[in-house]
Amino acid sequence: MESKKKMRAAVIHEYGGNGIFKNEEIAVPEPASDEVLVKVHYASVNPMDYKLRAGYMKAFIPLKMPAVLGIDLCGTVETTGSAAKKFKTGDLVFGRADFTKSGSYAEFAIAKEGQLAHAPKNASEKEAAALPVTAGTAFGVLFDVAELKPGQKVLITGASGGVGQMAIQLAKNAGAHVIGTTSTANLKLIKDLGADEAIDYTDGDFSGRVKDADIVFDTVGGDTLDKAYKTVKKGGILVSIAGQVDDSIAKKYGIRAKYLSVPSDSQTFEKLAKLVDSGKLRVIIDKEMPLEMIAEAHALSESRKAKGKIIIKI
Ligand SMILES: NC(=O)c1ccc[n+]([C@@H]2O[C@H](COP(=O)([O-])OP(=O)(O)OC[C@H]3O[C@@H](n4cnc5c(N)ncnc54)[C@H](OP(=O)(O)O)[C@@H]3O)[C@@H](O)[C@H]2O)c1
Repeated sequence: MESKKKMRAAVIHEYGGNGIFKNEEIAVPEPASDEVLVKVHYASVNPMDYKLRAGYMKAFIPLKMPAVLGIDLCGTVETTGSAAKKFKTGDLVFGRADFTKSGSYAEFAIAKEGQLAHAPKNASEKEAAALPVTAGTAFGVLFDVAELKPGQKVLITGASGGVGQMAIQLAKNAGAHVIGTTSTANLKLIKDLGADEAIDYTDGDFSGRVKDADIVFDTVGGDTLDKAYKTVKKGGILVSIAGQVDDSIAKKYGIRAKYLSVPSDSQTFEKLAKLVDSGKLRVIIDKEMPLEMIAEAHALSESRKAKGKIIIKI
């Protein structure tokens, strides 16, 4: 006789393409002492999810199969571990699920207490689910790493993407002069979000059109990152979240360059919730899909052409 409570989940049993998800009934996970069990209302999809699924990241983040992916979530606290005192059952929270244990593509997910915050009051639950990875990463890069100051010139590559959209708004709120690169179809979108200058990267090399940026925030990697070094002012900083930087090239230009993975925490999420509540940060949603369409949601993310976040209704 089965006594353990079950939940619906999109499960993978191996690395592979977006067809490998299986809709299954599995046991609800149990939180460890510093963890929270969250009843997930909405998850959102990040490119990292398909990179994990495909096995591109298995050398440094191996998954224990079967695995439930999904980092971003918004939902209510179901139970808390013995040492997790910050939230109580029923609290509406948002933040990062621990996909190495049990991610947010399921009815329940495990999150470290320190990676959750109370959800913003003036945002919908789906908007809250769109924030943690994108806005958390943008906040960490701009303020914790690059220490952005008012009046500085900031270049954001991939400015129409999930992270880029947040970075434009956060940098603009902080008094920066913001320049974004994007394809033709998204020039208006990034202007509407607050970019002072929108550069069409399909219309020639963007790096010839930006000079002396204090901060370059690269969300694209590859050739875009290779070209970005020369747009940074001497003494400035280049931060990429999408490709490894080359210290010898940075040295040649007299700049600092860093590749970063930014695991945001509750404190950052609380600041983001305040910005959303005060109307200074908004979320653009491209599509909402049910959990059963997670394969289609991953296909859209992998196309790199989503115009905003992809939300999963659990
Ligand atoms: N290290 C970390 O901690 C961290 C955290 C979050 C994300 N990331 C990584 O950062 C990257 C961006 O994430 P995201 O959530 O913003 O992705 P996203 O929402 O999928 O956005 C990607 C954007 O890239 C642009 N793009 C596509 N092809 C391009 C090209 N050839 N040249 C220039 N731009 C191109 C697209 O805009 P256009 O259609 O306008 O070109 C698109 O809006 C991903 O690789 C992700 O894995 C890393």
